[in-house]
This record gives sequence, C-alpha cells and structure tokens, in this order.
Amino acid sequence: MSTTRFLTGITTTGTPHLGNFVGSIRPSVAASLQPGVQSFYFLADYHALIKCEDPARIQRSTLEIAASWLAAGLDPEKVTFYRQSDIPEIPELTWLLTCVTGKGVLNRAHAYKASVDKNTAAGREQDDGVTAGLFMYPVLMGADILMFKAHKVPVGRDQIQHIEMARDMAASFNHLYGEHFVLPEAAIDDHVATLPGLDGRKMSKSYDNTIPLFSSREQLKKLIGSILTDSRAPGQAKEVEGSALFQIYQAFATADETEALRKAYADGIAWGDAKQVLFERVDQVIAPMRAKYEDLMNNPARIETTLLAGAERARALATPFIRELRSAVGLRSLAQASSAAKPVKAAKAALPSFKQYREADGKFYFKLVDADGRLLLQSTGFDAPKDAGQAIARLQREGLGALAGHLAPVDGAAEAEVAAALAALAAHAAAAA
Ligand code: TRP
Repeated sequence: MSTTRFLTGITTTGTPHLGNFVGSIRPSVAASLQPGVQSFYFLADYHALIKCEDPARIQRSTLEIAASWLAAGLDPEKVTFYRQSDIPEIPELTWLLTCVTGKGVLNRAHAYKASVDKNTAAGREQDDGVTAGLFMYPVLMGADILMFKAHKVPVGRDQIQHIEMARDMAASFNHLYGEHFVLPEAAIDDHVATLPGLDGRKMSKSYDNTIPLFSSREQLKKLIGSILTDSRAPGQAKEVEGSALFQIYQAFATADETEALRKAYADGIAWGDAKQVLFERVDQVIAPMRAKYEDLMNNPARIETTLLAGAERARALATPFIRELRSAVGLRSLAQASSAAKPVKAAKAALPSFKQYREADGKFYFKLVDADGRLLLQSTGFDAPKDAGQAIARLQREGLGALAGHLAPVDGAAEAEVAAALAALAAHAAAAA
C-alpha cells in the first residue's frame, strides 16, 4: 500500500490556545493515527525569527508548543516530530531553492505584499521595516516541505499560496535538474471549525481574544466567564447563531450534547448557567491533557530528548537527500568524472537506459543509449548474461574507469555524456527509493 506523507509546521512564537487545539492540534494528532499515513510535524523556529526578536519568548514558545502537542496525544514513535533548526539541511536547501525562485514571485507573496501595501498607504518607502527574512519566508517554507517529499500539507487557507509556491519551486528544480522533488498539495479540512474568541471574532493572538489551551481550571473558568454575550435576561429565548459560547461548546461536545444546549438556549437558559455548562465541558476534555502538560513542562530535558530523537530520524532522510541535490546542481567532488553542462534536462522526459542482448557470435553484450535511443556506450562481448549484468552494476557504482577493457573506446566528449547519463539514472533511482 502506498502511504501518503503529511507534513506541517507550527511557528514558535506564541502559546497554544483553544483555537489552535480545535483547528490544528486535535485534527493533526487524529490524522497521524490513521492507517496509510506518515506524519512529519515540526516546530518552525527558523520561521519564528521572522516575526520575533525575543530569544526567551522563542525558547519558551518552542517548549510550550512541543509540550502541548505531546500532551494532546502526539506519539513521537508514530510521528516524526522535530525542531526545524535541528535540521541544517533545511537552510541549505533553502539556498538551492532560492536560486530557482523568481524574485517577482516573492514580490507577490501575501505576507510581503501586505507589508508593502501598509507602507504605501502610510506614505512610506515600500520596503520600510521589511526584512529579507520576511521576503524569503516562502522559500524557507518550500524547503521545509520539499526536503521530506511531503504529498499533503495541512494548513489554514492563508497558507495556500505558500504551498503553491513550493510546488512551483519543485517543478522548476525538477525541470532544470531532473525529477528530485515530490510536488506537494495543500490539505484544507473544511470540517474543522474556526473557533471564535472571547469577543466573537476568530480566536487569534493578534486580536488578544484567546483562551490558552492550558490555563489552570480557575483561569479557564474566569476566561469563559468573560466571553461576550448579548443582554438577554434569564428566561428569554437566546439564539445560537453568532453565539461564540455556543460555537465553542459545539467544538468540544458531542452532537447530542450540542442539541441539548441548543434547546436550553431556546428555553431561555441564563448566560451564567450556559457559561458554567461550557466551562465544565471544556475542562472535561482539557483536564487529562493538562496533567500531562504540566508534567512535561516540569521536565524540559525530556522534551529536548524527544525532539533530538525526532531530528535524528528526520536527518536520516535529509542528509542523503541533500547530498543527491548538491550533486544534481553541480556541487560535486572534483575527484569524480564531470558531467555535461545540463545533464539531466534531456533525461527529464525519458531516461537513458541499458540494453542487453546476444550477438551472432554467441556472446552477451550491453549498450547504454540516451533517452532518444542514441548510442553512448558499447560493451565488448561477455561469456554469460550474468557477467554483462555485473559489468553494468559496476559501471553504475564505480563509473567508466572500472570497466576498462570491456568497452569499445569512448572519446572525451562521449565520456562526459556517459557520466551524465549514469548520474541521471542514479538520481532517478535515488528519488524513487
Ligand atoms: N508558515 C506556517 C504558518 O505560519 C508555518 C510553517 C512553516 C509551515 N513551515 C511550514 C506549515 C511548512 C506547513 C508546512 O502557519
């Protein structure tokens, strides 16, 4: 069965709130437990540097987010759970992608454009206060995704453009250097609720209307008590439409419980009582996780160990892959035979191939032909088909030099073409692995 690889990142600048739990943590943890999926979830701390210049806050947020995901049931044995900055291959890949990304494409990225528009509206120079980090953000995100050959990237709608950009970077790179990257797609779950905050607008740090996921029971009660309601008195029928209190309840309760509250609204439940119902229901979900969370927060070294183990697993993929990519673009050992200028471009549509055959003299031969069927290399005769097969394997492993005496003479130019063809086959095999 083929597995689908999901990958998503969480920027480490804030403290998880109920909206993050309902919109991201809970569905992602549930998805990671499905059969046929492989999940890569990571703490995007390089991204955090773009919007936060407070080192203590970044460290604190990384700890809180890691503890929240683990407390919510993320199983680090099942999910590759790591911290972005533990993977040095990611910034390295960022550079390779930077070099295949049009600057004009980045000019159109939403986050950058929003800053430019704001400056323009205020009569300032368009790039005023804009760092190159903000400008490059989509490329870093592209590297996060492409490094691990993710098929699906669960994100909010505001991130769709970034996934499309990552796709374009992958396609450009593949076009230039051969098929190395998987083209990712955004995965948007329409069933997942966006939770309203205390004031009824979307729960968001930027509106300062959040309920932290792991506040104490007392704090939770107090915050729920401050949810905005209308002025209807006890006994007066209330509307569920537009009621933040009701929507939050719905995200935590069963369908039957939700129906019961709907009826209570119609029957004129007092706001104070409705808040009490909501508080108890949310706390029932949170309480067991809260205990785990507090335990984890008291053992930061344990979280560190978990993240380092995740990074090790992630790097087991990233390290050989970046090696392949470096070679593909020409960052290669000088001790190896060099290849033609743009070797794999022609190999993109079709690959070179080895053909084995028997001649009238009874011997077994092979030849290497390029994607168009043009002869690149011709062997001498072998006594058994097995010998010809082994010679091909050696040639692929060790290059042309290994087969001296078994090949018809090749001149310098042809030699470069053969090396390019071998590299294309190797890259293809590595990408398929
Ligand atoms: N930029 C994303 C956000 O703000 C976080 C993120 C960073 C991410 N790298 C990613 C999400 C890679 C998905 C895949 O929400």
